[in-house]
Amino acid sequence: MIKLSALISLLLISTVSSLDAAAYKGQKAYMDSCKECHGGGQELAVSKNIRTWEKIMDKKGEKLAEIHLSSKKAQDSHEYFESRKFTKDSKHLEDFLTEYAKDSGNVPACN
Ligand code: HEC
Repeated sequence: MIKLSALISLLLISTVSSLDAAAYKGQKAYMDSCKECHGGGQELAVSKNIRTWEKIMDKKGEKLAEIHLSSKKAQDSHEYFESRKFTKDSKHLEDFLTEYAKDSGNVPACN
């Protein structure tokens, strides 16, 4: 019996941490490339639904790049949004943003 519950908690722990791992890379990309203008990522993430983020981040973040490239105020981000780095980051960013989206059910830790 003890063995069984140990196994179950092990399974639970590994499920939770693999979920986190996917979002973690995105969080890191966010910290590197978005934070200077948008502040804490979880607040930005929670401002939209999962569906909305999926649309914005579709086709390797095409829409997100468009929003920034057409804005003069976002001038400093243009180099990043035109780079291959953004194309590579976009999937991770999507994981991160949808993980903490308004309807994700994940409440960011208060720290
Ligand atoms: C140089 C500053 C800057 C950087 C870096 C930047 N943004 Fe933005 N972002 C802006 C500005 C300015 C706007 C508003 C554009 C407009 O409406 O004119 C904006 C708009 C947005 C919007 C649309 C806002 C809305 O409510 O619909 C989203 C989403 C967004 N940014 C996410 C991101 C993400 C994710 C990153 C990192 C990959 C990022 N931004 C990097 C400046 C920046």
